[in-house]
Amino acid sequence: MQLNDAIQNRASIKVFSDEAVPVTVIESCLDAAVWAPNHHLTEPWRFFVIPDEARELLAQAVATHVNIARGLEWAQAKAQVIKERKHIFSAPTIIAIYSDMGTDQKTEKENLCATAAAIQNLLLTAHSLGYGAIWRTSDIYDYPTVRQVLQVPPSTIPVGAIFIGKSAQREVPRRRRPHALFTTWVGASGSGTTDETTGAGKP
Ligand SMILES: Cc1cc2nc3c(=O)[nH]c(=O)nc-3n(C[C@H](O)[C@H](O)[C@H](O)COP(=O)(O)O)c2cc1C
Repeated sequence: MQLNDAIQNRASIKVFSDEAVPVTVIESCLDAAVWAPNHHLTEPWRFFVIPDEARELLAQAVATHVNIARGLEWAQAKAQVIKERKHIFSAPTIIAIYSDMGTDQKTEKENLCATAAAIQNLLLTAHSLGYGAIWRTSDIYDYPTVRQVLQVPPSTIPVGAIFIGKSAQREVPRRRRPHALFTTWVGASGSGTTDETTGAGKP
């Protein structure tokens, strides 16, 4: 698959078949993820692969937190647990991704950016291998019970959970507005030409 095809045709997939995702597919996605740029080669990404039956461990950790720690009414807690459980079992594999915080704010920000870049590599690779995926965010990945069951180191922040599997949804039209709406070519006055003195492109 051409890079541009992968970039433009990747889509967030929300409905998956029950078909398990082969380990080799997950490994290819993770292999691609770690090629993301990362300042000072901090390699800040931490991946927690939650396949098939391991989803039960995640669901139970969520239920424990909701039931014990959140002080909700019984009915509210039950509804919350059911909702999260449905969510967790909506894809055959989840990869929870955390970023190392580093020792200062600048590093934390750079590490977070690098981990986001890794996630995009992962999503594009899944798509190129014929798998659907979606980047989701949720408070559950910071629940102490969840961090404990996944064995996430304390010095990390959750960046996303990638749900991955074979798509079972019809194609949804996607749109992006042209980059020109968000782009300023500083110091340029022409259009689509090359500056004679510097050789730099002009809009
Ligand atoms: C940081 C981040 C967090 C996201 N969190 C969620 C989420 O919690 N739930 C969800 O349905 N989609 C989530 N998405 C997916 C976006 O909604 C999706 O990328 C957007 O709708 C564009 O669709 P596309 O990916 O098909 O182009 C998230 C995307 C990013 C980058």
